[in-house]
Amino acid sequence: MRVGHNVLMARDAGEAMGIVSSQPVDLVLCDVKMPGINGLELVRQIHEVEPDLPCIVITGYSSAENSVEALRAGAFWYLEKPFEQERLDVVRRLVEQAIEHGRLKAENRALHSQLRARYKFDSIIGKSAALQRVLSVVEKVADTNSTVLITGESGTGKELIARALHYNSSRADRMLVTVNCGAIPEELLESELFGHVKGAFTNAVHHREGRFAVADGGTIFLDEIGDMSPKLQVKLLRVLQDRTFEPVGSSKTIRVDVRVIAATNQHLETLIEERRFREDLYYRLNVLPIEAPPLRHRAEDIPLLVNHFIDIANQDKGTRIDSVCEEAMKLLADYPWPGNVRELENLVERVVILRREGEIDLSDLPDQFHRTPGPGPAVMRVPPSGIDFNEVVGDLESDLILQALELTHWNKNRAAQLLGLNRTTLLEKIKKKGIEPASDS
Ligand SMILES: Nc1ncnc2c1ncn2[C@@H]1O[C@H](COP(=O)(O)OP(=O)(O)OP(=O)(O)O)[C@@H](O)[C@H]1O
Ligand SMILES: [Mg+2]
Repeated sequence: MRVGHNVLMARDAGEAMGIVSSQPVDLVLCDVKMPGINGLELVRQIHEVEPDLPCIVITGYSSAENSVEALRAGAFWYLEKPFEQERLDVVRRLVEQAIEHGRLKAENRALHSQLRARYKFDSIIGKSAALQRVLSVVEKVADTNSTVLITGESGTGKELIARALHYNSSRADRMLVTVNCGAIPEELLESELFGHVKGAFTNAVHHREGRFAVADGGTIFLDEIGDMSPKLQVKLLRVLQDRTFEPVGSSKTIRVDVRVIAATNQHLETLIEERRFREDLYYRLNVLPIEAPPLRHRAEDIPLLVNHFIDIANQDKGTRIDSVCEEAMKLLADYPWPGNVRELENLVERVVILRREGEIDLSDLPDQFHRTPGPGPAVMRVPPSGIDFNEVVGDLESDLILQALELTHWNKNRAAQLLGLNRTTLLEKIKKKGIEPASDS
């Protein structure tokens, strides 16, 4: 029966190894009894060079022992001789399944190594001392089993750091399971983390494994840990102490080997004072603290990140942006980025899509870069002793004009644009106030 596969024949194990190591093969079918090395040993040797290549072993006698040994040796399945006509369909299906299985395994391995490459340290962009300090800690603690607590404002890269920790540890081949403790309602979070048995609560129709069990051998990343309820904090404390827990509705204790990484953008010390976070849990989590610095404290990383996100956007969106003009880059570097790297990433993507090719210049940046918000009435309060209105307003004017001039390297047209003034008005004010470049520049 022919079903369209290209078949290569080998007379013994040596010939088979020669074929397997010299060209791509999707499936090996081999007898147990062969001259020289037997089929089971051949399967072992093949898997040393091609771990994902499925092998089906043909066993001569229908002995249970033979089939068990075949599976133990790593065979995908076994087939008993002889193949009668009516069993050929079974053989054909088995062959298709084995090939599909091998393909999925190879694909899975490729995806995994892509993930590893993606979370190697060089995917974390930044040369600033603040970031480099963080990375050197990450490198040192990645391959330990110690619990890590990552803190930092929203969008500073806490999840990226957690991934770098996992993918640079010896647990990298196992699961990294992420649970966002803030996004899941309390009642569900417990069974999400620890699993439940059938009938544990109204909707528990089936037994369900929790994330801690899924992460066994790997890492669990508990994001937004500050949002966890006090009841669950107690249960988590116990997992951290002895790596054991009971699924919801069960009295059976489960033991796991899991590395715990937690993250929060909240100030846990304050939550402890407010009695919303257990102090003992905090100390258990805070074994290795890592603080992701806000972007405004490492402004020198901004141009690197901008270029990095331009490259990514060009690749993803097929755009051809090649640079950012100096003044636009300066505005980006001076901006305080309250949403940190995530805000920067989103902005770059938006600007790249709208501009499509060539250079990004000042006019491509959205309004918030052109109108620096003034101190506003909330900042300036009139003291009981009163103020000299004209002097205060005059000083503020001079200060804004000077900032705009410095930002644009004394290009008066662009400075006028930044301030929303027309050019003649600006020139008059500069002259009247006697504003000049600082003599040491
Ligand atoms: N140093 C960096 N280099 C490259 N990309 C970064 C860097 N830091 C953060 N990013 C990117 O910025 C985005 C936000 O990062 P991430 O999700 O890790 O932040 P977070 O601290 O977990 O934020 P949140 O508190 O809002 O969950 C992601 O797309 C991430 O890839
Ligand atoms: Mg996050």
